This record gives sequence, C-alpha cells and structure tokens, in this order.
Amino acid sequence: MSLTVVRQSLIIIFVLVLTGLISLTIASKPHVISFRSPNLYPEGLAWDPSAQHFIVGSFRDRTIAAVSDAGVVETLISDPSLPENVTVQGLAVDSVNRRLLAVINAADPLPHFNALAAYDLRSGNRLFLSLLPSDDVASGTRQISNDVAVDFKGNAYVTNSAGNYIWKVNADGESSIFSRSRAFTAHPVDRDSPYSYCGLNGIAYVSKGYLLVVQSNTGKMFKVDEDDGTARLVLLNEDLTLADGIAIRSDGVVLVVSPNKLWFLKSADSWGEGVVFDKIDLDLERFPTSVAVGPEDRAYVLYGHVLEGMMGNKGREIFGIEEVRSEKENGEENVWLFVLVGLALAYFLFWRFQMRQLVTNMDKKTR
Ligand SMILES: *[C@@H]1O[C@H](CO)[C@@H](O)[C@H](O)[C@H]1NC(C)=O
Repeated sequence: MSLTVVRQSLIIIFVLVLTGLISLTIASKPHVISFRSPNLYPEGLAWDPSAQHFIVGSFRDRTIAAVSDAGVVETLISDPSLPENVTVQGLAVDSVNRRLLAVINAADPLPHFNALAAYDLRSGNRLFLSLLPSDDVASGTRQISNDVAVDFKGNAYVTNSAGNYIWKVNADGESSIFSRSRAFTAHPVDRDSPYSYCGLNGIAYVSKGYLLVVQSNTGKMFKVDEDDGTARLVLLNEDLTLADGIAIRSDGVVLVVSPNKLWFLKSADSWGEGVVFDKIDLDLERFPTSVAVGPEDRAYVLYGHVLEGMMGNKGREIFGIEEVRSEKENGEENVWLFVLVGLALAYFLFWRFQMRQLVTNMDKKTR
C-alpha cells in the first residue's frame, strides 16, 4: 500500500515537472511565420487587429498582401493604376476610419513619384491617391517618401528620407509639408557611410499628441508635436544606427528596427529622454526593414530581403515575419514560471505527506 503511494507520488511529481518544462519550452519559442509570395521583397509591415492578419507591401508589383499567422498569403490590393514598378513602402492601418494607408515611392531610375494611397480596408477600393508636394522641384532632387503613421483623426504623417521633413495628409487626402524642423539637420552625417542619403525614416504616433521619428543616417530619435510640427531630439543612452522602422507597444515600450538589430526602449517622461533597455541581433542577410506590434502586444519584424530586391534580384519566393522577444523581459517571465511550478510542487508534496499520514493513522486504527 505505502509502496504504491510512493510510486504514485513519484509519477505525479514527474508529470508536474514535465508539464513545467514543456510550458517553459513553449513560452521560450518565438512565433515564426514563413510565407510564400514570389518576387514580393516586402518593405512595409502592419498588423490589422480587426482582421487579425499582417499586411505587407510589394517592392515592384503594385500589390499589398495579407499574411495570416500561419503564413497564408492573400492579395488584398492590386492597383495597376499606380506607375509601373513603384514600391509600396510604409503601411499604416487606420482602425478608426477602417482604411489602409500606403506610401508609394519610385526608386532610381524610375521617374520621380511620391504619394500616399488610402484604401478601404474591407473592399480594397482606393479612396485617394495624394501626391506629396516637393519644395525642391527646382533642384530636381529625388525625394524619398518612406514611412507613415496615422493619428486618431485620420491624419497621416509621412517621412521624407531625402529632404528630412514630414508631410501631412489629412483624412480627405489633402497633403502639405508639416514639419521641417531644424532639429532634423542639426546632426552631422558621415557622407561616406552606406545609406548616408537616408535621413528621417520610421514614424509612429503616440496617443498623447506627438509623433516619434527615427533618422537612419544619424541614429537619432525625435519627438514631433502633432499640432505645430515642432521637433525635439529625444535624449537616448545610445544612437540607433541605421534605424529604419518604429512601432509602439500598448504598454508604451518603443521598438526600433535596423538591418541587424531590434532595440527595446522606454521613457519615464513622455520621450524627453529614453533608454535602450534591450537590443536583439537580427539576421542582416534577410534584411529586416519593419517592425509591427502583432497579436498580444508581441513584436514582429519583417524579413523582406529588400536589399536583394533593390539590387535588382528576382525570383525569391519565401519571406518571413518573426516574433522577437526581449530576453531581459522574458527572463523575468521565466523566473516567475519557475516560482509558480515550484510552489505547485511544494503544495502537492505537502498534501501528499498529509494524505500519507492520514492513511498510516487509519491503518493503525483498523489494526
Ligand atoms: C518595370 O520593370 C520591368 C521588368 O523589369 C521592365 O521591363 C519595365 O521597363 C519597367 N518599367 C519602367 C517604367 O521602368
């Protein structure tokens, strides 16, 4: 009798430990989405919370596709009225107005073209295509419309990586130059470094009436007032070298991606200053360009092989969207999981011990 009890307890303890270990393994496995879309080379990534899928743009096909968490691809928008071979850059989901905003840019040597397109999220119908005005027309410089963020009134803010300014496109599609702050050109740029032409890049809207913008060629971040476009440098403990995309989690943590890193930042004073509290190495070869906050507030980067696309390569079929976790944040979670499993085990052993005593006592009585 007592031998069976011991054996049973051992089996149960074993099962408990195993369950704990399995849940730890599951918890430590980030979500990887691999999807097939020949020649897509997507640059932009957004998450549509209502449809529960990701949205990616195309490098040359004038299409925008949805990618499910299992990697099923569906063409959402195909817009052959756009000029040939233009790139779909930044994407933003306007949940209030149920619209998808897409930055459309023509890369060298195509004729210059910079616009913001708005599509109905449900039907895919185009609502407007707003050309983004250039104040450098005379100089003939190619402007580079890059990323877009949207506020709660449906105003879109689009970065210009060449001109280092920000356009605004209101909910009716009227566009203007919104912020041309001197802060954007106050920092020296090494003209010999790669991507030195690329200034203002990723942009995100913070619900408190300002935007955060990152600048690739300086690694700086700026806080831009939503009302008047004034901008201030965000003081950081390190430069975000070659910063590209930016996204904000619902808990306020800011994520910034570069071709080889994902930075996790937080701020205690609404982005007067901020701190990088973790940075994760990414796969440079797969050239991540965008980060989005997906289901359950998780960070996802887009591995779009864009560099390969820019070099004129064709034929790649598989691309990826991958969850990236802060090991520091996760470490804390794992510790708690261990503590919980440990507590459950201790409680179980205590209960088992009491039961055994009860059984022994009853044995004594019956004897
Ligand atoms: C677009 O790309 C195709 C295929 O590379 C090429 O044949 C065509 O000339 C390009 N169109 C323009 C306007 O450059």
